[in-house]
Amino acid sequence: MGNLSFEKLLDNNQKWITEKLKENPDYFKKLSKGQSPKFLMIGCSDSRVPVTSLIKAEPGEIFIHRNIANQVNLTDINMLSVLEYSVEHLFIKHIIVVGHYNCGGVAAAVDGINQGLIENWVSPVNELYHKHSEELSSIKESSKMCDRLSEINVVAQAHNIIKTPVMQRAFKSGKFPKIHAWIFDIYTGKLIQKDINESKLIKEGLLPRNYLEIVN
Ligand code: CO
Repeated sequence: MGNLSFEKLLDNNQKWITEKLKENPDYFKKLSKGQSPKFLMIGCSDSRVPVTSLIKAEPGEIFIHRNIANQVNLTDINMLSVLEYSVEHLFIKHIIVVGHYNCGGVAAAVDGINQGLIENWVSPVNELYHKHSEELSSIKESSKMCDRLSEINVVAQAHNIIKTPVMQRAFKSGKFPKIHAWIFDIYTGKLIQKDINESKLIKEGLLPRNYLEIVN
């Protein structure tokens, strides 16, 4: 893992250009014309979770935002700008929050090993840890407990997407994407879909009554 040297970066870029042009001589002409991706993905910054590679996506297919522990913080103007642009201008069809097992950000929220800003950034995960302490304390192995907290976190962040004014506006307009929560199982490479409990969110009024009919 991690054999890529700085010297190789630009060489690899040239190789990639050659490959793309071999496939299609107009590749960059087409790429430069604009984007109409169908998906917004919000993932963790962790180098082992390159969300576009995991699903074999090509340039132009995924609009993306990454931060430590894939947080959807309702005061984060960076994430909110990405969300607003993708929903109101690109009209993306799916928003996928991607968490992962063995997440350093989640571990930092539990044991506070990172001294510094990260602890502040992941404090919402620490809140989830305390909120779900009954379930989590029953998991003896600490890595398994953190993995379960990653699952709780990704679902909570998907719920946060739904709570944003951008999405509430979209729901009122009747044109909106479907929200998903996925976990990248770093031990096997598999992406696992987590249930975000849409029917409960509809009952609570956070999702519109016709949500499932519109998105399915
Ligand atoms: Co992570």
